[in-house]
Amino acid sequence: MLESVGIQFEINDHEFMVKPNISCVTFPSIPQLEKTRLCSRVHPVLECCKQVKGQTSMFLAQRRLCSLDSRAKFLKTISSSKILGLPTSAKMSLKITNAKRIEGLDSNVWIEFTKLAADPSVVNLGQGLPDISPPIYVKEKLSEIAAIDSLNQYTRGFGHPSLVKALACLYEKFYQKQINPNKEILVTVGAYGSLFNAIQGLIDEGDEKPVNGKKWSSSDWTLDPQELASKFNSKTKAIILNTPHNPIGKVYTKEELQVIADLCIKYDTLCLSDEVYEWLVYTGNKHLKIATFPGMWERTITIGSAGKTFSVTGWKLGWSIGPNHLIKHLQTVQQNTIYTCATPLQEALAQAFWIDIKRMDDPECYFNSLPKELEVKRDRMIHLLESLGLKPIVPDGGYFIIADVSLLDADLSDMKDSNEPYDYKFVKWMTKNKKLSAIPVSAFCNAETKLQFEKFVRFCFIKKDSTLDAAEEIIKAWTRQKS
Ligand SMILES: Cc1ncc(COP(=O)(O)O)c(C=O)c1O
Repeated sequence: MLESVGIQFEINDHEFMVKPNISCVTFPSIPQLEKTRLCSRVHPVLECCKQVKGQTSMFLAQRRLCSLDSRAKFLKTISSSKILGLPTSAKMSLKITNAKRIEGLDSNVWIEFTKLAADPSVVNLGQGLPDISPPIYVKEKLSEIAAIDSLNQYTRGFGHPSLVKALACLYEKFYQKQINPNKEILVTVGAYGSLFNAIQGLIDEGDEKPVNGKKWSSSDWTLDPQELASKFNSKTKAIILNTPHNPIGKVYTKEELQVIADLCIKYDTLCLSDEVYEWLVYTGNKHLKIATFPGMWERTITIGSAGKTFSVTGWKLGWSIGPNHLIKHLQTVQQNTIYTCATPLQEALAQAFWIDIKRMDDPECYFNSLPKELEVKRDRMIHLLESLGLKPIVPDGGYFIIADVSLLDADLSDMKDSNEPYDYKFVKWMTKNKKLSAIPVSAFCNAETKLQFEKFVRFCFIKKDSTLDAAEEIIKAWTRQKS
């Protein structure tokens, strides 16, 4: 049975039912409920049902419940079991419950830890979002485009024409082949949208995918070819690759990618290559696209992200590139689900790309300047974590650093949920006691690998200097306390 809560109000003798997450409910009659004292604050976006003289009408609460304000008397919070005591039309249905495919997925590390870090006194190195400014021309393009009427309407479902053209032009240089902008590219809601479309369009329930298994692990973070090979068999439908890797920061070498490519070809396996950090590689490393390896274009979907490319994660635009015989299935999913992505964002992104496509060899090109800027931040963060007594893994790419925090011997005895992995407890402890937040690495692991990574936490370093200064202050005070 659903245990959803409602909150009842009394206003001028009429009763109001405020129910989170339920948009359409009717209450022919609501029995008198025990009155309690005035409540000052309510969640901002709620749906309300108003009962007036036995008639029921619906209205949407204003952003704040200000219209109710001083006239509103909080009655009580009720649960669905109470609601079940009401007439049939007001009952929670026993049938309307979660679909099986989302069973067990209701808790989510991003939601949980982002909420913890929302306290303004906490320095947030958790969620992977930049607090540096995006390039000025990217923001300017968007504001110019928003003023053009036609660009505020729906556009081509598989990708705004100017954006797919820009993407084709950019990536042709790397693939050294022509890319058909309409047939071999799909613009999606972020890189996650591409992963979603690819998995929905190409993978069936029960198909085998060696994703995030033990194979990626070895103490020096290199790919173990034997272990990976042991995960493949004739039924292996797909592999999801992520290079540069989040959270480890690994950039796969040519030899490692060749091992993966050989296995994909041998077992006729599809490769979903998540390359959202493709530009963010540091001195001595090179990002290689597995789709450019012989025999791989036909079986690879390469995924990119505007959020990571131009430090605009809030734009949530991504793309899939691959042969038409694969992309067409992703297009089918998109045309039957979200249909299209935001037009002004796509046009602004296209125009931003053209600016940088024309200056690819120039240090000012954002694809060159951002990794330079981030390498300095990476080194600063490494140094800081070392000063605390940690041995952070120096990332070759991406914008995260992971470190084994068990070396700090933090006293986690007052962290309540003893069943949680070490890293979850540690991050909660650090957020509460040190006002510094991060992300537990075991959140990225399956049951098999959780134990191996549960002493690691992830710090994000795409942060402006003032944020890193604040982190430095915390870490220095912590270091002094330890010694
Ligand atoms: C490896 C990886 N893939 C995909 C994404 C999601 O990208 P987007 O925001 O474009 O959906 C992220 C975001 O952190 C990521 O780290």
